[in-house]
Amino acid sequence: MDFMDVSKKRVTVRKFAQVPVEDEKIQKILEAGRWSPTAVNGQPQRILVLNTLENLAKVREFCSFGYDKKYVELAEECEDKSHGKLNFYYGAPLVLFVAYDKDACWTHPQSGKSSGETDATIVATHMMLEAASLDLGSVWISYFDEEKARSLLKLPENWQPVCMLYIGYPAEDFVPNTKLGCHRKPLNETCFYNAVPAGKEEI
Ligand SMILES: Cc1cc2nc3c(=O)[nH]c(=O)nc-3n(C[C@H](O)[C@H](O)[C@H](O)COP(=O)(O)O)c2cc1C
Repeated sequence: MDFMDVSKKRVTVRKFAQVPVEDEKIQKILEAGRWSPTAVNGQPQRILVLNTLENLAKVREFCSFGYDKKYVELAEECEDKSHGKLNFYYGAPLVLFVAYDKDACWTHPQSGKSSGETDATIVATHMMLEAASLDLGSVWISYFDEEKARSLLKLPENWQPVCMLYIGYPAEDFVPNTKLGCHRKPLNETCFYNAVPAGKEEI
C-alpha cells in the first residue's frame, strides 16, 4: 500500500470489535516500532504489550475519570453512563503501553532536554501506521492516570510513560468522529517555505 494511503487510512477508532488481534500482526507492529529512528540510536523505548483480561481490566481502571461534559461533547464514546464517569478504554483487545527508560536516552548538551519523549513518540507513530496497514484500527491515548498506571503495572522507577496505543479491529458500527478528527487545516496554515509568515517575525 502506498504510504499516503496508509497515512490517510489511519483514523482514530474508539469502538473496537471484541476480537483478539492475531499474534503475527502484533509482532509486525512491534517490528515496525523497532526500526524507528531514535537519538544516537539509543532505543530507550519500552513497550508493554497488554492483551490479557487481567491487564485490560487494569487499563480500564487507570483510564477512568470523573464526569466532564467537555470530553463527552467531543467524543461521546468516553461516557460511562452506568457509573456517571468518563472512561477512555473503548473496549480495546490490545493495548501497547509506551514508555521510555530515562537512563537510556540522549541528553541535548545545550538544553539538557532528554530525547526520551520524542524517541518513544516516533516509535508509537510507526506502530500506529503499521497497524493501519494491517487493517487494524487504533487510538493514541495520553489521558490516563500515570501514577495509577505505574502502580497497577508495577513499572520500574526509571520508566517514564508516554502514551498508550489501543489497537484492534473497528466495531461493525464504528464511524469516524467528524467533530474531533477528519478535518485538517490547509497546508498554508501550518507549513511555510523559507520564512515565517509575514507579521509573525521576531523583531
Ligand atoms: C498526542 C495525542 C494525544 C491523544 N490523546 C487522546 C486521548 O487521551 N483520548 C482519546 O480518545 N484520543 C486521544 N487522541 C486522539 C486525537 O483526538 C485524534 O488523533 C485527533 O482528534 C485526530 O483524529 P484522527 O486521529 O481520526 O485523525 C490523541 C492523539 C494524540 C496525537
